[in-house]
Amino acid sequence: MISIIVAIASNNCIGKGDALPWHYPEDLRYFRQVTTNHRVLMGRRTFLSIIGRLGRPLPDRESLVASRDPDFAYPGVTVIRDLEAFLREDHADEVFVIGGREIYKAALPYADRLYITRIMKDYPGDVFFPAYPAEDFRLIRQHDDRELSFRVYERIRP
Ligand SMILES: NC(=O)c1ccc[n+]([C@@H]2O[C@H](COP(=O)([O-])OP(=O)(O)OC[C@H]3O[C@@H](n4cnc5c(N)ncnc54)[C@H](OP(=O)(O)O)[C@@H]3O)[C@@H](O)[C@H]2O)c1
Repeated sequence: MISIIVAIASNNCIGKGDALPWHYPEDLRYFRQVTTNHRVLMGRRTFLSIIGRLGRPLPDRESLVASRDPDFAYPGVTVIRDLEAFLREDHADEVFVIGGREIYKAALPYADRLYITRIMKDYPGDVFFPAYPAEDFRLIRQHDDRELSFRVYERIRP
């Protein structure tokens, strides 16, 4: 199963340069809770920004990093060179796609679930969540916490 997890501001912004334009500890906690003990798939740029911040890959998760660069490697990390083929495979476990924009865009057609944290506020930035057919998904869970709304959608149309 392929799941996408993302935080999106009201103006659709998801990033500024290589970073998140906001800091919400409750969203980071939610992200950790949902993704821990799962495989997490990300683009090379998002991976490098995690390394820049934490000095290591996300703990207690297996990191899969998409890169077309034949020389890219990192200890303990699986590099995915053929992203489309990986997304098309059947995965018995829930694989979480954790960004960034390029990887979300590639994964959206294959996503069975979307874990979207809606931030009820605009943020300035230069990276936006790609357009997708929202009518292909239905809301199955929601809880709100001040300006954040944690929502889970599942695919209802192939
Ligand atoms: N709001 C959120 O929840 C959230 C979460 C994560 C990230 N973000 C934001 O997203 C932004 C980063 O997104 P981004 O789109 O610039 O970068 P990205 O998706 O993290 O990484 C892009 C890289 O992934 C690799 N890639 C892309 N398509 C591929 C394919 N089809 N096959 C194999 N490898 C592929 C390429 O690596 P090579 O160049 O090595 O080939 C490409 O340069 C940042 O601003 C970050 O803060 C936001």
